[in-house]
Amino acid sequence: MSTQQKSFSSSLGAIMAAVGSAVGLGNIWRFPYTCGKYGGGAFLLVYCCFVFLIGSVLMMSEFIIGRRAQHTPVKAFQTLAPRHKAWGLLGLLGIITSFFILSQYLVLSGWTTGYVWDSITGALASLGTSAAPISDYFAQFSAHPWRPALFLVIFAVLVLVIILCGVQKGIETFSKVLMPILVLLILILCVRSLTLPGAVKGLEYLFSPDFSKLTGEGILAALGQALFSLSVGMGVMLVYGSYIPVNENIFSTAMWITVCDTLIAILAGIAIFPAVFSCGFNPAGGPGLVFCVLPNVFNTMGTAGVVFSIIFFLLLTVAALTSAISLLEALTATFSEHTHSRRYVGALLFFLLTTALGVVFSLSFGTLSHIKIGGLTLFDFIDQVNSIYLPPICALGTVVFLGWVMPDADVRDELSNHGTLSIRFYGLFRFIARYVAPLALLVVFVSGIAM
Ligand code: TRP
Repeated sequence: MSTQQKSFSSSLGAIMAAVGSAVGLGNIWRFPYTCGKYGGGAFLLVYCCFVFLIGSVLMMSEFIIGRRAQHTPVKAFQTLAPRHKAWGLLGLLGIITSFFILSQYLVLSGWTTGYVWDSITGALASLGTSAAPISDYFAQFSAHPWRPALFLVIFAVLVLVIILCGVQKGIETFSKVLMPILVLLILILCVRSLTLPGAVKGLEYLFSPDFSKLTGEGILAALGQALFSLSVGMGVMLVYGSYIPVNENIFSTAMWITVCDTLIAILAGIAIFPAVFSCGFNPAGGPGLVFCVLPNVFNTMGTAGVVFSIIFFLLLTVAALTSAISLLEALTATFSEHTHSRRYVGALLFFLLTTALGVVFSLSFGTLSHIKIGGLTLFDFIDQVNSIYLPPICALGTVVFLGWVMPDADVRDELSNHGTLSIRFYGLFRFIARYVAPLALLVVFVSGIAM
């Protein structure tokens, strides 16, 4: 079956599925700690500028390319640039990026699934309220020879099942059910966090900009986070773009997704920082903020803390699930288009490959920690590749393709739904796609390598 026959059934379904892809661990785990590291409010401000000016343009670009071509990434670029087939390599790079991101994402998702379980069994609650046992627990949990791998496999099977149900019955239906649940869970946590004594300090931290803490590195991190959070630069949004119904407004779809994604990241900040401040912990806790600091916060809340702990890690797992399905979908759809095989073949194949690789990355916290590439463990190495190298190159290639290679008339035609929508913003869009975004991405890429 080719992608041409597939499509989301409604605009709501398309938006929900793409929001599901965008909202993930990036919003709830990565955004709060990165924001904490680079000074709270100041980072938030810069992040918002990047996400709306550059991130949304990248998303529109992927949607335009995907929907115009009605193909998965490799064929999409080849179809739209028939005389320069080498552009297909950009699609291939995107798919390779998706493959590695999924393998790494499964590791983190396995941890969140494991923490749901450990919240339910009371294992986390039994650690008490001092910091050391909780950090030790996380270190032991991630280094355990089989537990993280087991949870990783459980999570990956869930992803596989949804993909096997198909685009409309699987991805769209699950996104429509899971996303509202996610919003509900995060709102419950926000209310709890805001009603803790001293919560205001957390809000001040998140919303009052202190530019002295915002370094050049912080500005680069903001752009990197904007790309990661919107899931752009890896062909996934391009594949979802090919499923967007023809009468759908690409500009407003991308804007809605960007708004929802940013709101959820801010809500995650509201759920986390006031609680962290109220309990007297350090907001700049780094990647361990969610796994080491939050269990501590929950344990100060007594029995109710157990419930909040379950809710929080469930929230993370649900968010990760809808992102992981979009990654597996991109791989599955591309494989079945190229090999003319049935969906389940590609889904199973990439499930097996990414799970196996994920388990290897997961073991690099314990059993395989002695294996190093350039001084980094396997997980840290893939983390670098996935954040510094691959997505900025793919994103750069995509905007250059849209801004300089695709005929202007085609871009206008696709964005305006064949002239039926007015596109007053087009001048700004084109300016960003041709100059601003390529330049910003080039700076991110070069400085990422230089650092
Ligand atoms: N946007 C996802 C998040 O915020 C992470 C992500 C990056 C992603 N690239 C992706 C998800 C591609 C799906 C597809 O967690």
